[in-house]
Amino acid sequence: MSLRKIFAHKKINQHYDVLIIGSGGAGLSLALKLADQLNVAVLSKFSLTDGSTFHAQGGISAVFSKTDSLESHVEDTLNAGAGLCDPEIVSLTVAKGRESIEWLRKQGVNFTEKESSDGSRKLHLNREGGHSHRRIVHTDDATGKAVSYSLIERAQQHPNIALMENHNAIELITARKLGEKNQQIRGAYVLDTISGKIKSFSAKCVVLASGGASKVYLYTTNPHSSSGDGIALAWRAGCRVANMEFMQFHPTCLYHPVARSYLISEAVRGEGAKLVLPDGSTFMHRYDERGELAPRDIVARAIDNEIKTHGIECVYLDISHKPKDFILKHFPTIYQQCLSLDIDISKQPIPVVPAAHYTCGGILTDKDARTDIPGLYAIGEAACTGLHGANRMASNSLLECLVFAEQAGHHILSVIDKLPDTITLPKWDESQVSDSDEEVVISHNWDELRRFMWDYVGIVRTRKRLNRAMNRLQLLKEEIAEYYGQFRVTSDLLELRSLVTVAELIIRSAQLRKESRGLHYIKDYPKTDTTLKPANTVLTPDNYTQ
Ligand code: FAD
Ligand code: SIN
Repeated sequence: MSLRKIFAHKKINQHYDVLIIGSGGAGLSLALKLADQLNVAVLSKFSLTDGSTFHAQGGISAVFSKTDSLESHVEDTLNAGAGLCDPEIVSLTVAKGRESIEWLRKQGVNFTEKESSDGSRKLHLNREGGHSHRRIVHTDDATGKAVSYSLIERAQQHPNIALMENHNAIELITARKLGEKNQQIRGAYVLDTISGKIKSFSAKCVVLASGGASKVYLYTTNPHSSSGDGIALAWRAGCRVANMEFMQFHPTCLYHPVARSYLISEAVRGEGAKLVLPDGSTFMHRYDERGELAPRDIVARAIDNEIKTHGIECVYLDISHKPKDFILKHFPTIYQQCLSLDIDISKQPIPVVPAAHYTCGGILTDKDARTDIPGLYAIGEAACTGLHGANRMASNSLLECLVFAEQAGHHILSVIDKLPDTITLPKWDESQVSDSDEEVVISHNWDELRRFMWDYVGIVRTRKRLNRAMNRLQLLKEEIAEYYGQFRVTSDLLELRSLVTVAELIIRSAQLRKESRGLHYIKDYPKTDTTLKPANTVLTPDNYTQ
């Protein structure tokens, strides 16, 4: 079925009960949970599958094995999070693992199964770094594709869901911005990137399900949509943001000139792949007794260190000792993708480097996904729920998307009748701006920002480099603010504006943390501070009110 066909028949008006910004796993799950009772609009910046969800490989963590337990999943998550996870949030999330998977199955997701000894079929479970058991439910090595297609298809069939591609949220509208005393959310201004028109969407509740910010780095596994827009929108509107220094670098991104952001799933290491140097020698045992299956922060830092020590461009991930049919059965997508680049992974090692992968911090939310602004919620990678702490464990992210979509859904349904009606919002004012005559400013600043973030605010940090990055950033910030004030908005300008905001939040948070912990490693403070109670880095905007 064509994804666009049904979409084209949907009526698009601009008053909704709930406006969801983002059509990834988090946004679509929430839309489906609300749509029997409420009118919902779901926006996507580009196509419906443009988020990280579509690219997810390894799977979704949940306790299914008889030898596993909820306690063990909790413990592994807390260990990976290096003292900063919120234990209540971890327990809540882990406890909802099985029901989240069952819900997805009801939406039509077919997870990979295996035949057990008694002839019955059971879910096949992958293993990934930090997990002490096999507990990753998956659809081959393309879980995100299976989840996205099923959720999109369901959403397209629902009469109360309007799916809007090519709609880029520019700014949130609160009652305060409209001159009222309270801070209630009222809607959002959105650029229709096809017509170039700016529309106002009025809604009783707005949900930021806009994904992460890894595109702030030059090398990333993430798709184009991950520019941290939701985090920047919330921050500008007056929400607190937490733990932005904890940017996760995935250890194994394919190193290839024409496929810079292709991920080689951690599940490959879960099935026994070894990380090796160009001479074939292994090195992970020198860094951690768990070797290749140590948590991501440790593996990414080890690779970074080996690359710098030996002056090499990449390391290699070798699964060629496994039989070819095993590789084809478990990793059909990765096998084909590598083969299309002349790398036969059943015969040769895969060149890999670490790349920015996941934003552990984000918009500060409570257990119901509420932000600091009444009526504004945040779910998925855009949010900081307390689940991941200083380092997310593999495959806990899709689980978080599902669980907090459920939490937000419950809360919205319990309050919606008490919220003020939607209103007609003022039009976006374009009277003072003209068309840009210097697009080069945007492309230049994009490149510069992403490069200095990679060089100065990457896997290994120093105070000096962070200060250098902040100085560069202030210049860019002024230039972009001036540009934004003068010219009509475009998608590129909006994304650059978001990236500058999240870059500043990352650098400020990194400067505030005077220790190394989890994903934040700074040479000036190489140890974790055990003298103080572990604390989140919470940044408060100037316009914050409570
Ligand atoms: P996304 O899926 O990123 O969706 C964001 C949505 O917001 C998009 O639709 C985008 O268009 C929209 N959006 C953004 N800004 C705007 C705006 N201004 N206006 C309108 N819309 C906007 N996690 C796991 O748990 N297991 C895995 O196996 C796994 N594998 C991964 C593999 C890869 C290659 C990557 C990149 C990530 C992987 N992750 C995995 C992480 C996980 O996929 C993401 O954290 C998760 O999918 C995020 O879902 P989300 O719904 O929050 O956001
Ligand atoms: C992977 O398959 O390695 C990605 C899993 C994740 O990011 O959770």
